[in-house]
Amino acid sequence: PTPAVWRRVDTYLAETLVGHDAALEAAVHEQDAAGLPAIEVAPLNGKLLHLLARAIGARRVLEIGTLGGYSTIWLARAVGDGGEVVTIEAEPAHAAVARGNLDRAGVGERVRIEIGRGADVLPGLEPGFDLVFIDADKQSNALYLDHAARLSRPGALVIVDNVVRSGRLVTTDESDEQAEGVRRGLALLAADPRFEATALQTLDAKGWDGIAVAIVTDAASRSGS
Ligand code: DHB
Ligand code: MG
Repeated sequence: PTPAVWRRVDTYLAETLVGHDAALEAAVHEQDAAGLPAIEVAPLNGKLLHLLARAIGARRVLEIGTLGGYSTIWLARAVGDGGEVVTIEAEPAHAAVARGNLDRAGVGERVRIEIGRGADVLPGLEPGFDLVFIDADKQSNALYLDHAARLSRPGALVIVDNVVRSGRLVTTDESDEQAEGVRRGLALLAADPRFEATALQTLDAKGWDGIAVAIVTDAASRSGS
């Protein structure tokens, strides 16, 4: 497809199926105004996260990589009143933007922002998550997946953002540390009996990328990890 056409397709689908949403548009605006990078998930992908969370009746969601809270809003809307999203953000300035965006969206009380590196925060979290969204530093994907398996209930969904990265998944060597992290994560998903996984390429407002989608198996509860 030519770039002009796939961008029009993305706009068509987003306008048709997502439409306008004041809280989400404000979140992107505030994120841009604060100088955060424009690397939040595309609207159609945010809604996919939301629908997947609702489809499995998720009440506790873990997100690794908050940024300005755009995907966090989608996930927090899915868990409903009394549900909880724990979201981990290494950069305090990003967490502050996210806090404002979540409160403005009316879901602030459902969201606990943990400020710190995933490697430091994850060991202290209570297990039992229904869905984990991994969208932070790609070098750590395998580490995050290991924690996700440990912290999730059997049958939980684990979604990994940015697994294609404009084809860098297959076009770069080990000097591309981010792509290398993505490859290690996918290798873990393939080899680790605690997961069954697939992945999809995506072409949307954020360009050419992809997500991995995994289910946590019963092996996770038996592994005692
Ligand atoms: C980058 C990170 C993301 O999570 C994303 O969705 C797109 C880009 C990045 O670090 O460049
Ligand atoms: Mg991402």
